[in-house]
Amino acid sequence: MSAFRTIWTTEDHYVEVIDQRKLPHEWVVEKLISYKDAERAIKDMVVRGAPLIGATAAYGIYLAAREGANLDEAFTALRASRPTAVNLFWALDRMKTKLENASDLVQTAWEEAAQIVEDDVETCRMIGVHGLPLIEEISQRKQEEVVNILTHCNAGMLGCIEWGTITSPIYQAAQKGIKVHVWVDETRPRLQGANLTCYELTRHNIPHTLIVDNQGGHLMQHGMVDMCIVGTDRTTRNGDVANKIGTYLKALAAHDNQIPFYVALPSTTLDMTIRDGLKEIPIEQRNQDEVRYIVGKSKATGQLDEVLICPETTNASNYGFDVTPARLVSGLITERGICAASEKGLVALFPEYK
Ligand code: MRU
Repeated sequence: MSAFRTIWTTEDHYVEVIDQRKLPHEWVVEKLISYKDAERAIKDMVVRGAPLIGATAAYGIYLAAREGANLDEAFTALRASRPTAVNLFWALDRMKTKLENASDLVQTAWEEAAQIVEDDVETCRMIGVHGLPLIEEISQRKQEEVVNILTHCNAGMLGCIEWGTITSPIYQAAQKGIKVHVWVDETRPRLQGANLTCYELTRHNIPHTLIVDNQGGHLMQHGMVDMCIVGTDRTTRNGDVANKIGTYLKALAAHDNQIPFYVALPSTTLDMTIRDGLKEIPIEQRNQDEVRYIVGKSKATGQLDEVLICPETTNASNYGFDVTPARLVSGLITERGICAASEKGLVALFPEYK
């Protein structure tokens, strides 16, 4: 579907990823040669987004096998690379199970990591198939006027492999000729909305407008948002949703304005072992300098630059994610269909979790 993927293998059987810290200004490809490269790529957010973190970790295990590293150490290091997105732990567990009785560790790890990647592509495509009717229905109700969708952070193809989760229904709607327009929250502190979502929407010719994170409520009050769709890093058995910091505030505003608030996710983002998202989902806290500085392309030099936006001595707090309680979520769009954000809804679609 897309002109590129976010992770791929090379002829000499290494792994390459796009350095997402440089987008949209520079296209820099990073080669991952050892599992420590994969660990660092996840930690430093060269790659990010729950499904892509999982895929990178899976290839990290392949690289560890290939370089003859201690696999237990590699699993431990990769597990510690980021705490919130459950896809990381899901992918590592899948690799571990697969490698348990493997005679050829390198070949098995290579094949399993590739399968994780292919599965994610198909899963995201199906999220689009199931999410598309939601957009179609609004378009018909509005007599084919533009459907305005608000999103937060980047749950697009850059957070996955292809298609993305929230972007899959959007791309499929556009392919069908439905008029869509996306309000993109800039998503401070790291600006994944401005940098990444706007980048990929531009590449896919989707009309969009960048907004500051605080603008969504105003737009909703004035009838300028038809629906919100966001991604998630971990969704609990009860349907509580962890996603990029600020998602909860958008859900509150949507609720207050009776605007549907959907969460698009592959089942690899479900954590059916926990129920209460607020109490049980570990929330990443990152370096305060991500808040104190803004990174962007300098108007003066045209180079990427970091600019301090507060007094030198001011401290900042930097929680990476928040939890939106299930009661604020209109539905979960998964590869198997749409369900209520509840245990009942999830188990009906995924009976294997009964
Ligand atoms: O900190 P990030 O950029 O990894 O956070 C990403 C998100 O919050 C995404 O919405 C989520 O991982 C879903 S990606 C399909």
